[in-house]
Amino acid sequence: MALNDKAPLTGTVQVPGDKSISHRAIMFGAMAEGTTTVEGFLPGDDCLSTISCFRQLGVSVEQNGTDVTVTSPGMHGWTEPADILDTGNSGTTTRLMLGILAGTDFHSVLNGDASIAKRPMGRVIDPLRQMGADIRGRSGGTMTPLAVTGSSLQAIDYDMPVASAQVKSAILLAAIWAEGTTAIREKLPSRNHTEILLPQFGVPVDQQDGVIRLTGGLKMTPAHVSVPGDISSAAFFIAAALMVPDSEIRLTNVGVNPTRTGILEAVRQMGGEIETEDATEGAELAATLTVRASKLKSTEISGALIPRLIDELPIIALLATQAEGTTVIRDAEELRVKETDRIQSVVTGLKKLGADAEATSDGMIIKGPVRLRGAQVDSFGDHRLGMTWAVASLIADGDVDIINKECISVSYPTFFEHLHTLQNRLSE
Ligand code: S3P
Repeated sequence: MALNDKAPLTGTVQVPGDKSISHRAIMFGAMAEGTTTVEGFLPGDDCLSTISCFRQLGVSVEQNGTDVTVTSPGMHGWTEPADILDTGNSGTTTRLMLGILAGTDFHSVLNGDASIAKRPMGRVIDPLRQMGADIRGRSGGTMTPLAVTGSSLQAIDYDMPVASAQVKSAILLAAIWAEGTTAIREKLPSRNHTEILLPQFGVPVDQQDGVIRLTGGLKMTPAHVSVPGDISSAAFFIAAALMVPDSEIRLTNVGVNPTRTGILEAVRQMGGEIETEDATEGAELAATLTVRASKLKSTEISGALIPRLIDELPIIALLATQAEGTTVIRDAEELRVKETDRIQSVVTGLKKLGADAEATSDGMIIKGPVRLRGAQVDSFGDHRLGMTWAVASLIADGDVDIINKECISVSYPTFFEHLHTLQNRLSE
């Protein structure tokens, strides 16, 4: 590794487009009849899986870096796919496609990688079956590969048992096919990108007194979508700048939708210096973040904050190793069913690096500050683990050798380039 690895991070980076919004822009563009244009698209492996699924349904998608043009006959004009739809490593693609395919008039099969094969799909399939969907698969029809035979759907009234934007979105997308008005009640608010973006494609979503309502039968119309930067990607550089002494960085056009900004609250509670400026108006808020190296203290993270920072918990756990006191993360059992069991995989890696970390059934307990040491750590094929260990390498004594860091391309293909920019190692 280069000698200046531990150098302060300085300068400005524009993190890539939001993964959740990029998926939805392609999906809704494919459901609408006509031409949808997307700028700021995330060309990560997950979103490319979404594009390839729609190409198999007869939708034309031209992708040029972060610019995408989707030209579709509309959801009623799709053709039956001749082969299995490959959702790769993407839970969002797999779950939202189930809702989208449930109301077609053809047969389709979804399959993903070894991680997707372990992830629970029953949480989506249960409500979709209540709407009349015909979905079959392993383990009582709840695990991939999953076969969907399109059928006519009816609206439902549904109380969500888990706080999950993927479940909520799959139901809302099926509800567009369905007869009647679907009503959904969330246990805790989860990211609301579907609710924000659907009206731009001609489908109003009503939200009152904690109930989300969508009336089926409307024809979707194309739109132009401008995708802000992904706060879940920014999180890795936020943490790095807080922990590496003398750092000061700026991250431009970061999405700051309040359903996603739990990390900013947690970091501020920990004493982290982070400023938000130039917030733009618009359906999806974006802002420039300035982050400075800070003395950190422990915190407790639980309850309604969890869905607002769920994907950031691996990097927050690393941050906690450098904070004075005992950080407790609770109510985060959802981490067990992400790309890996992130309670297990994060604690395993942190311990190898010399951290004082303990797994609990629904979270972690981390005591700090501890000087981390070099070690070999595994991403277990989980992109957010890979990036967490890359940030650990900036503060550990000795080399951190990451097994399988290629998986970072799932959500942040230019991660190392951007890291080198902030380290002023542009020539490498
Ligand atoms: C996502 C929702 C979250 C999140 C995932 C993306 C989405 O998953 O962890 O990375 O795009 O809707 P859950 O819905 O399972 O909480």
